[in-house]
Amino acid sequence: MRIMVVGGGGREHAIIKKLRENPKAGKIYALPGNGGIASDAECVAIGATEIEKIRDFAVNNEIDFAVVAPDDPLVLGCVDLLEAAGVPCFGPNKAAAIIEGSKVFSKNLMKKYGIPTADYNVFESAGEALKFAEDSVSFPMVVKADGLALGKGVIIAETKSEALDAIRSIMLDKAFGESGSRIVIEEFLTGPEVSVLAFTDGNTVVPMVSAMDHKRALDGDRGLNTGGMGTIAPNPYYTDEINRRCMEEIFVPTIKAMNAEGRSFRGCLFFGLMLTPMGPRVIEYNCRFGDPETQVVLPLLKTDLLDIFIAVRNGKLGDMEIEFSSESACCVVMASGGYPQSYAKGKEITFGDTKGATVYHAGTRLENGKIYTNGGRVLGVTATGGTLSNAIEKAYDAVRTISFEGAHYRRDIGKRALEAK
Ligand code: AMP
Ligand code: GLY
Repeated sequence: MRIMVVGGGGREHAIIKKLRENPKAGKIYALPGNGGIASDAECVAIGATEIEKIRDFAVNNEIDFAVVAPDDPLVLGCVDLLEAAGVPCFGPNKAAAIIEGSKVFSKNLMKKYGIPTADYNVFESAGEALKFAEDSVSFPMVVKADGLALGKGVIIAETKSEALDAIRSIMLDKAFGESGSRIVIEEFLTGPEVSVLAFTDGNTVVPMVSAMDHKRALDGDRGLNTGGMGTIAPNPYYTDEINRRCMEEIFVPTIKAMNAEGRSFRGCLFFGLMLTPMGPRVIEYNCRFGDPETQVVLPLLKTDLLDIFIAVRNGKLGDMEIEFSSESACCVVMASGGYPQSYAKGKEITFGDTKGATVYHAGTRLENGKIYTNGGRVLGVTATGGTLSNAIEKAYDAVRTISFEGAHYRRDIGKRALEAK
């Protein structure tokens, strides 16, 4: 099979390495890929949002199966274009990807179908939002831009003045462009967060092993929010009992709700959950695999990924038995100094003995046989082990052998999970 994977981050590297395990996988193209993916696939210089070019490439190169991994092409309708051109895809169509593309849509969906989430209000004008914040007495308050904002469109305002600033920045200064034409203001919830990725073909839903992300830039969950500085799986807070509740109260109802809306979801649906004292609540939906969650979840998957993708595409997920290993995994992200704010690119990376781990590339570039940094999150170093401590130790052993100028990584990935056990 000739396969095409759209995207070029650590998540896509993990997907490609897993697809390679299937002997049916022949040529794999990555659009655009990155410096590390170049060892596992042929990288093609087409950006992930250039959806017409992606369709033309697939048709001209007789692609048998496509995987669209990032949020933007999914929300733009990349899968619709490819399928219309006769290319079978893993990933939701545009009508279903709105579950991530619009927070107003997803909040209204949850309210309509009784899926537990934070209480909220939607505002279409800055004046009304400012008045609401002005009249509020309960803080922190959570302010969210409606549309995609590179994971930065959520502001936890600790005080009234921070809330007013957030509303002005999103709605008046358009800090996230048109994504901020509407906002959601919601109640602040507390509790451990869990990422659950699930395969679904619109009928069957199969949750994968749970994960814990580490969103803040610095140790001890301090510093700015990032795309994710590391992950572990499974998440010790996510017990079998909680999984049963989530299946019944959240996962199945969400799949049914999307069907009822005529927006049947096929692909990977990501549930960002918070385990509050009142029970599990949905913080957000993503219409795709998480990054860096994928880098710990897929290494634990025992069933063949390509077979699952094809079953999902064909509405046959119910016929499959999906198995995960009972081991643990840890991924430590190595980032460029300064990330998530400004950082330098083009630093040469040297690798030592990383045999005990798998190094997934994110922001890297290959030139004359050398690898250079090319983004904020540079590498995701993942190890698996019989215990979580063992996985953590092996991941850090590999991290310590890798270097580039300004390299920054958290020293405490998995620490909270170990304490929770
Ligand atoms: P999101 O991009 O929607 O995942 O939000 C980013 C982060 O903001 C989440 O991982 C949570 O830590 C936090 N967050 C979002 N919504 C809430 C909420 N209602 N209450 C508390 N924290 C929240
Ligand atoms: N790690 C969270 C995300 O992929 O959105």
